[in-house]
Amino acid sequence: MTRYALVPAAGSGSRMGGEKPKQYLPLLGRPLIHHTLASLCAVPAIAKIFVVLAADDADWARHDWSLLAGRLEVLRCGGATRAESVTNGLRAMAAMAVAADDWVLVHDAARACLAPAQVEALIRTVGDDPVGGILAVPVADTLKRAGADQRVQATVPRDGLWQAQTPQMFRHRQLLQALECCPDVTDEAGAIEALGLAPRLVAADATNFKVTYPADLRLAEWILRSRQLSSAEQS
Ligand code: CTP
Ligand code: MG
Repeated sequence: MTRYALVPAAGSGSRMGGEKPKQYLPLLGRPLIHHTLASLCAVPAIAKIFVVLAADDADWARHDWSLLAGRLEVLRCGGATRAESVTNGLRAMAAMAVAADDWVLVHDAARACLAPAQVEALIRTVGDDPVGGILAVPVADTLKRAGADQRVQATVPRDGLWQAQTPQMFRHRQLLQALECCPDVTDEAGAIEALGLAPRLVAADATNFKVTYPADLRLAEWILRSRQLSSAEQS
């Protein structure tokens, strides 16, 4: 079975409030998504990385992708929601000789601090699991449910609660069928769960967060820079 990555990158980044989509904002001298794609390219077990762009994306062509050349396949088939972008990407992959049982690792373009070791741990732990699995982090904080006037209505027990991240790794045909059945999900696992299946949870850490708000860019920069420094020290 071949493993592919599928990176939805057709969002507008409205919560970031920038003048261009957040995946193209500068981060350590490169567009944010370049870091995301470089991490996936650093995993030899991934044969190819499909990137789903909005049909009218004007930013991709303005940047240099030559460092990642040969591993990327650009699909201009983004949809109105993340789930639609992923579904359209999976359909396009089917027309490009991706087999029903091949694995697809769906990963948000906006999670630029993904470490290749986290992807390798996901692939290793999922192995030949009949369902698939996702990176996730056990919830550490106490959780509150809000009532009226932004006052606490209840404390929600956090036992057994995890925050879902990406990559989320499932077999191509099963994931496409699941998303066609349940287009209103916010992640791939949600669609697989709706089929009555239980994806595996693989523990990651908080550095694999989704860049969402302006302050997140500083945090991403700090994480990437500290990794660069520690690898420079080791070599
Ligand atoms: N995404 C996509 N197609 C959409 C919406 C989102 O491919 N119609 C992608 C985004 O580009 C991002 C990932 O899905 O890499 C996660 O979505 P999110 O963080 O919500 O990004 P945006 O939708 O761009 O941001 P916002 O919700 O703040 O507008
Ligand atoms: Mg969004």
